[in-house]
Amino acid sequence: MLSVSKFSEFNGVNREKNRMENNKVTVVLGAQWGDEGKGKVVDLLAVNSDIVCRCQGGNNAGHTVVVEGKEFDFHLLPSGIINQKCTSVIGNGVVIHLPGLFEELKKNEQKGMEGWQDRLILSDRAHLVFDIHQQADGLQEAEKGKNSLGTTKKGIGPTYSSKATRNGIRIGDLIGDFHIFEEKFRTLAANYKRMFPSLEVDIESELIRYKEYAQKIRPLVKDTVSYLHQEIRSGKRVLVEGANAAMLDIDFGTYPYVTSSNCSIGGVCTGLGIPPCLIGEVLGVVKAYTTRVGDGPFPTELNDETGKLLQERGHEVGVTTRRVRRCGWLDLVLLNYTALVNGYSSLCLTKLDILDNLKEIKVGVAYTLNGKRINYFPSSISELSNVQVEYVTVTGWECSTEAVRSVDKLPTQAQIYVKLIEDHLNVPVKYIGVGQGRESIISVD
Ligand code: GDP
Ligand code: IMO
Ligand code: MG
Repeated sequence: MLSVSKFSEFNGVNREKNRMENNKVTVVLGAQWGDEGKGKVVDLLAVNSDIVCRCQGGNNAGHTVVVEGKEFDFHLLPSGIINQKCTSVIGNGVVIHLPGLFEELKKNEQKGMEGWQDRLILSDRAHLVFDIHQQADGLQEAEKGKNSLGTTKKGIGPTYSSKATRNGIRIGDLIGDFHIFEEKFRTLAANYKRMFPSLEVDIESELIRYKEYAQKIRPLVKDTVSYLHQEIRSGKRVLVEGANAAMLDIDFGTYPYVTSSNCSIGGVCTGLGIPPCLIGEVLGVVKAYTTRVGDGPFPTELNDETGKLLQERGHEVGVTTRRVRRCGWLDLVLLNYTALVNGYSSLCLTKLDILDNLKEIKVGVAYTLNGKRINYFPSSISELSNVQVEYVTVTGWECSTEAVRSVDKLPTQAQIYVKLIEDHLNVPVKYIGVGQGRESIISVD
């Protein structure tokens, strides 16, 4: 039988557990194929956060924040880094290209970002992206020829492959015993040389370069798992910034036309060491239409004048690769699927203003395959390439929404458009983006 003292001890543990579970982490996730405007949403929410974390991906991401007309783009750094009151964490699930990270820091310093040294933390468990991974990414794409995936060539796939093959090298290895790092690096480089004989690597100069990086990053490195748990327990508000997006998720996306990490909700747990019970609000960022960079099926794609108009009005050019983004109508079948996987508690609908001058707007509401409606999201690329999309057509509002700051001031047709999305997905829209700037957002209460 449990003794009275043991029982009260146990109760004490439970009370602590409850207190801890009341402080939940907020998560921002891309709901489509990326570039939904996650950076802008994170910048908005960072004001009420103490810590902003990246949990997966690498510098394949490109997140834009526009403050007082000044444009910042973040690739590895959490978008909260410009907020002086926020600590930024790059979690264990992220793959870090150190030359890219320092270039990004320098570029942002030139734009006026200060004091990052005191607010940036890197996980000792995060894997390193080396230039050899980036070269291999390019060579793999070239080998695939017409079947290439259209990657960003940032070495993401090869680095996550090294991680899974278990010959990857982590931040902790770099700041530990350099002889062991050296040995691991030589093995990795030899391995890549065997796989790609044309790959060029000057091992000795890489080792010199990485010895310098080791000194530079040492003060920034922590066991981010215990750090985050301590901070959560002490009541700090943590915000997680998803990178890439659900349809690029290695498990749930349009495989193989995906990235190599879990960009859906699971990536928050595995990429930061945060258990599901500590996840609170999950905000899905949805662009008011759909875009995709790189190859792969895209059922609602518009290869016509309207697609061009969305591309031009939306300035749909990749932040990381400067490639033009493919554009199409909003796809509620796709969004329903990512809502299942991510469990959005609310949505942020961005770029509504880009639809301002359209006479009619279509929204994909169902897929049919061989004449029959399907009630699942196809896992097979050939099936997804062959679906027919059923659309509903909404009348456009044909006036500017850029200056609107409250939902009741939105044109009726725009309100109908928002309501259609909410009703179809059964998730409330909490924010609506009507312009690039920090101020161009409507909070729906
Ligand atoms: P992310 O990768 O999800 O952070 O998105 P990107 O930064 O790659 O792409 C989104 C683009 O749309 C950026 O240029 C943003 O500045 C811009 N943007 C975000 N929200 C809005 C909005 O509501 N309206 C307009 N016009 N632009 C927006
Ligand atoms: P953010 O965070 C849009 C796409 C690439 C390519 C595929 C695989 O800005 O939304 P990778 O280099 O990851 O191996 O490329 O994934 N991709 C993105 N597309 N936005 C992103 O990030 C992306 N990250 C990867 O274009 O098709
Ligand atoms: Mg982007």
